[in-house]
Amino acid sequence: MEKQSKSSLARHSKTPLFDILMAHAKRDVVSFHCPGHKNGRSIDKKLKDYTGEEVYKFDVTVFDEVDSLHDPVGPIKRAQELMADAYKVKNSFFLVNGTSVGNMAMFLAACDPGDSVIVSRSSHKSIMAGVILSGVWPIWLQPKIDQNLDIIFNSAYEQIKEALDRYPEAKAVFVTSPTYNGIVTDLSKIVDLCHRRGKIVLVDEAHGPHLIFNKNLPESAVEAGADLCVQSTHKILSALSQGSVLHYNSKLVDINRVKKVVSMLQTTSPNYLTLASLDLARKQAVLHGSQMFDKVIQACEWGRTYINNDISSMKCFTREEILKLGYDLDVTKLTVNVTKTGLSGYEIESILAKEYNIQLDYADIFNLVAIPGIGTEKSDVEAFVRALKEISKRYHGKQKNWILQIPSLATEMVMAPRSVYLSNSTKRIALKKAVGHVAAQTLTPYPPGIPVVIPGERITQEICDYLTDMSSKDIRISGQETEMLKTVKVFTN
Ligand SMILES: Cc1ncc(COP(=O)(O)O)c(C=O)c1O
Repeated sequence: MEKQSKSSLARHSKTPLFDILMAHAKRDVVSFHCPGHKNGRSIDKKLKDYTGEEVYKFDVTVFDEVDSLHDPVGPIKRAQELMADAYKVKNSFFLVNGTSVGNMAMFLAACDPGDSVIVSRSSHKSIMAGVILSGVWPIWLQPKIDQNLDIIFNSAYEQIKEALDRYPEAKAVFVTSPTYNGIVTDLSKIVDLCHRRGKIVLVDEAHGPHLIFNKNLPESAVEAGADLCVQSTHKILSALSQGSVLHYNSKLVDINRVKKVVSMLQTTSPNYLTLASLDLARKQAVLHGSQMFDKVIQACEWGRTYINNDISSMKCFTREEILKLGYDLDVTKLTVNVTKTGLSGYEIESILAKEYNIQLDYADIFNLVAIPGIGTEKSDVEAFVRALKEISKRYHGKQKNWILQIPSLATEMVMAPRSVYLSNSTKRIALKKAVGHVAAQTLTPYPPGIPVVIPGERITQEICDYLTDMSSKDIRISGQETEMLKTVKVFTN
């Protein structure tokens, strides 16, 4: 991607979908099509005064001129082909419900009900949706925790190899890379191993649509040879929210099934502004991504060095440290460990928002996670680290002895998550009486944000004791559905 040929530059200067929409908007067509606001005419004045009127002329519906996302033959087809060319894959599909829908589509496209899939327990919640919709039998991998860095590492090569040796019947391996913290796993090795054994590799690359555009960033999933991968173009590149892309580059998965599934899961009224922004984001990334990300990388490296040298109570791990652990780091992410401040990441995130007008993407007890993107300027990183420096002087908490750990809670999966999740034979029972029952809900304490039980798994005495202990300590348990975790939903036969 570094050196573009002249013909490639000329090809990628084109934005077929955006151009058609622009031409359509300029013609000021009388609209007797959906949506009801009619080129923005009836949009509330408060909103229109702020945004201006023109943008709403892009908000159209499916007709010949603008093409159909479900059966593209015109500008959407050409825009998707350019996207595929940019990532050097066979096919790219525009998604208007983010990587969430792409993750579901990958399961449904690659697997049949009852197939086994190796997948990390710490995957995004849309993976559970994919597992349930597709009816696969998940083989859950417990992620590793690093107690020096206070972060979770996703599936490494050795762990996947071990799982494949143990469960040779697995049809596919599902990997998340990069993680929220920018940790990239050795995908080339994983793909190589899987393909030698005829296994499909599916990658949630929500946080990695930019990797391919700069040589100083880790290898991307498409370069590693993944069969299918999904990227949140909107998270890091310049697409509008919900704009993601599913890339297909497989000999093992049927392309027609991918097309059917992607169409089945998406709205018939896609937002054309989001679609056009995918077209423009691709052009920008191909033509200018390398230089733009050079600047983002420099700004982030400057920020990391400043924090590590000048703020004694905070720390950012570096690429060298992560490489020593057998992973790579997308250096455009900034994870700041704040445990020595005596404050939690949540508390500092709130101070940053309320007192410094700086909004982060994510925080947990231990860390702040800043997600820079193609639009980030060095001045943004400067504002962030200066605020952190000031906070480190103004606020002192008593250092806590928090330790990031995964409880060793072995259990067995006795039913497929789909069978339990969609069953009417469930009821809530007292947590203390749940031992031996099959869970019908997911319960995930934060931290570490890894489910303790998943629908279809047996609730053991240890799990019961652990959850009782967590709820008494006021630890947030996602999925509990009730104010207090006194009861749990179980399968009743
Ligand atoms: C690892 C991961 N996968 C998938 C998603 C879902 O992506 P989207 O918001 O584009 O649906 C997220 C969202 O934060 C994520 O962090």
